[in-house]
Amino acid sequence: MSESTANDANGMDSIVNELYPYKDSSTVFASIPEVGRDVQEVLNEVHGFAAHEDAIGDKGQVSGSLYSGDHDHYHVLSQIFEEFAHVNVLQRDMYPSATKFEGEIIAMALEMLHGNGPDSDACGVVTSGGSESLITALYTYREQAARERGVRQPNVVIPKTAHVALDKGAHWLGIEVRHAPLGEDYLVDLTKMEELIDENTIAIVGSAGNYAHGLIDPIPELGQMALRHGIGLHVDGCLGGFLLPWIAENGVEITPWDFRVEGVTSISADTHKYGYALKGTSTLSYKTKSLRSYQYFTFPDWPGGLYLSPGFAGSRSGGLIASTWASLVLMGKSGYRKAAKEIYDAAQQMVIGIRNEIPELQVIGDPIFLVAFTSEVVDIYLVNDELKARGWRMNALQMPAALHFCITRPNAHPEVIARFLQDLKAAVAYASTHSGTPAQTGAMYGFGGTPKGNATLAFVMGGYLDAMHDLPPSE
Ligand SMILES: Cc1ncc(COP(=O)(O)O)c(C=O)c1O
Repeated sequence: MSESTANDANGMDSIVNELYPYKDSSTVFASIPEVGRDVQEVLNEVHGFAAHEDAIGDKGQVSGSLYSGDHDHYHVLSQIFEEFAHVNVLQRDMYPSATKFEGEIIAMALEMLHGNGPDSDACGVVTSGGSESLITALYTYREQAARERGVRQPNVVIPKTAHVALDKGAHWLGIEVRHAPLGEDYLVDLTKMEELIDENTIAIVGSAGNYAHGLIDPIPELGQMALRHGIGLHVDGCLGGFLLPWIAENGVEITPWDFRVEGVTSISADTHKYGYALKGTSTLSYKTKSLRSYQYFTFPDWPGGLYLSPGFAGSRSGGLIASTWASLVLMGKSGYRKAAKEIYDAAQQMVIGIRNEIPELQVIGDPIFLVAFTSEVVDIYLVNDELKARGWRMNALQMPAALHFCITRPNAHPEVIARFLQDLKAAVAYASTHSGTPAQTGAMYGFGGTPKGNATLAFVMGGYLDAMHDLPPSE
C-alpha cells in the first residue's frame, strides 16, 4: 500500500488509486465505442490483464480465494462453460441438460453431506455463491416462522464469528441478528447463545468452519439447542463444506457437523471454493422438501405469465451449472481426498512451525485447514506489512487483531509452507524492531475497535465501494 500524503488524511486517495492500475496503459471507456473494437486487440488486452493478475496468485502465496489453482482444470471447466455460456437455465424445455446438471450437483452434495439414504427427504438448490446460500436460508426460515408460527418480528441467533453475509441478508430481510459471544477457546459460548433465543427466533446458525478462524462450531450441541426450541439449525459450510468431508474420510477426527447430526436442518456448501468449480456457484441443502418450499416464489396474476421461481435469481447461466457439475465429476472422490490430505498436512505443518518456532504468536484453536494467529507482544498488522512486502497475501482480522492463512491447493506444498514460516519469522522480527510505527496494512488500525471508529470506518468504506464502481478519478 502506498504512503498517504498530507492532503490525503485518510489515505483514501492512495487506496482508491490502487483500484485503477491500468488507467494510463489502457483506454478508459466512459461510453460504448461507436464502432466495435478489433477482436484480436480486445483479446490481447484482456489476456494482458489476466496474465499480470494471475502471476500474483500463481506463486501460491495467497490465502484462500484461489482454491484449485490448477490452470488445466480451469481450462477444461472453461471449455464446458463455453458450451452453455449462452444458455439460460430457466429454459428447461430447450436445455434439459441443465436439469440433469443441477439435479446431480444437488444429489452429489447431499451424499457428501450424508443427507441421502432410504428415508431421506433431503433436497437442495444451486445458488450463485455463499452469500446467496446464506441469505436464501435466512429467507426460508423467516417464511417458515411467519407461516407456521405467526412470527412477525423475526430474529436469528448466530455466533459472533458467523459470516457477515448473514448480517447483510438479515438487514435486507428485516431480521434482527443476535450475536452470541465466544468463549476463551474462540468457540461460541453455548449458554449465552441459548439465552438469546426467544419465541421470535426463526433459526440458529453454526459454521463449519468459520471464516475468521476456520474452526467448527459445536454443531451437535447447537443441534440439541435447536431441537429444544423447536427451530431450525443452519450450518454454514460455505468454506469447509467441500473440504471437511474428505479430511474426515482421510481419518482425521473432526467435530460432526453434517446431516448426521440431530437438529441440523440446512447446510450451505460452496462449489466455487473447495469444490474447485469456477466462481459463481454454491449449494444450499435442506433436510426436508417442505423446508425448501418456503424459498419458492409463485405469482399467478402477472400479465407476463404464471410466474414461479425457486430462489433469488431470475436468469442463470447454463455454463456455470455445467462447469460446476464437471468439476465434481472430474475431481471424483479420490481427487477430493487427495487434495484434502495435502491441505490438511500443510495446515498442520504451519501450525507446528508457528507453535514450535515463533513464540511471539498464538495459534487460534486447533486449525484443520485455516491457520489464524494473533500476538500479545507484536503488532500483528506490522507482521502483515512485512509478509506483504515478501509477497504473501494474508487475511487480516479484528476483534482480536489477527491474521489468517486459509490453505488451498496452490499453497499446499511442504516447500511453500517452509518458505512461509521463514518469512513469518522475519516478519515477526520486523514487527518487534518497528514497534510503535503505524502499520500500512490494516490501514484503519486503531479505528475498528471503537464505536466512533466504526462510524468513521463505515463512512470510508462507503467511499471505497463507490470507487469500486467508478471510472478512475481524473488527474
Ligand atoms: C464461512 C463462509 N461463509 C460464507 C462465505 C461467503 O461466500 P461468498 O463469498 O461465496 O459469498 C464465506 C466466504 O469466504 C465464508 O468463508
